[in-house]
Amino acid sequence: MTIGVAARLFDVRAVQNTPSTNYKLIDPQTPSSSYILLKVKMIMPPLGAQMPSTGPKLSPQEEQCLLDWVVAEATNCGEL
Ligand code: HEM
Repeated sequence: MTIGVAARLFDVRAVQNTPSTNYKLIDPQTPSSSYILLKVKMIMPPLGAQMPSTGPKLSPQEEQCLLDWVVAEATNCGEL
């Protein structure tokens, strides 16, 4: 069994969801639309504020790094 950060995010509903939304922190169906990515990429994410909520936003390189990690982990966790 995989443990660690990715396993705690994989297919997990975001706390911020409303009754009519179903965002997943790492979304196994559409990894590049995972909520963790929307929260850093979008100036106005669907719910709440852009992350990090204090300090500078992620650089394009950091965003790409996070995207690559999420996509890789989404694939790995799906093979559990
Ligand atoms: C790259 C760094 C960060 C990432 C990827 C990130 C990601 C997220 C995500 C995915 C959520 C929604 C959680 C859920 O609904 O289950 C969230 C909410 C939140 N985060 Fe962050 N976060 C980051 C940095 C920060 C920092 C530095 C702070 C404060 C110092 C912060 C404060 C909050 C707060 C207050 C919320 C709830 C309100 C809202 O979304 O507007 N986060 N964050």
